[in-house]
Amino acid sequence: MERLQKIIQKAGLASRRKAEDMITEGRVKVNGKVVTELGSKASFSDDIIVDGKRIKRENKVYFVLYKPEGYISAVTDQFNRKTVTDLIPVKEKIFPIGRLDYDTSGLLILTNDGDFANQMIHPKYMIEKEYYVRVKGLLRRESSIKLARGIEYDGVKAMPAKVYNVEYDDKKETTFLNIVITEGKYHQVKKMFESLGHEVIKLKRIRFGSVTLDGLTTGEYRILKPHEIKTLYNLSKNG
Ligand code: URA
Repeated sequence: MERLQKIIQKAGLASRRKAEDMITEGRVKVNGKVVTELGSKASFSDDIIVDGKRIKRENKVYFVLYKPEGYISAVTDQFNRKTVTDLIPVKEKIFPIGRLDYDTSGLLILTNDGDFANQMIHPKYMIEKEYYVRVKGLLRRESSIKLARGIEYDGVKAMPAKVYNVEYDDKKETTFLNIVITEGKYHQVKKMFESLGHEVIKLKRIRFGSVTLDGLTTGEYRILKPHEIKTLYNLSKNG
């Protein structure tokens, strides 16, 4: 049993606040009776009718998006900038799991499943995130070793990162590399490299757990398959 306003919200009909108004305005019927009490509880197996329409639990949906640069990882933006949900026109109220910076591109998973999202971003579960990075300057071997041991930045000790495929552009004095991290702190990759004296010029997430960008180009998305969702759940449990 859950509060009625929570059920209306979960059905994707309204925010919790608006759902409360719907109840107090007498627009909600449970098993044939109008309910105006805010403390009332019900479940999805009850017959709940809002404004004459029977409500159903919203289907859970899962997408993987190749986020372009220049999009905000949020549902809305106070400055009216483009957001990642603009790229996936579905009726379900989806939101991104974690975030990529405005100027970062790459793999982002979006869903309306709050439990799944929490499990994916919980620091305890350590799902691998892999980034393709271009930094200013030529990254020294000692710096890669520091990253692999767990670098300290802003007074935070990062978990050990895997760095590989390091390539140098001697003319432009930049370094390309792949890095795998298991956390998702704010601006984490940029800050890790900044603390080593390297500004990140390009950042693209290419993998989240077992999910990659394969088959997608920038701005495109696809539905996550049930077995991919299951694998992510298993990865989050087993590390
Ligand atoms: N690390 C960053 O600094 N930015 C991102 O968008 C993702 C990881």
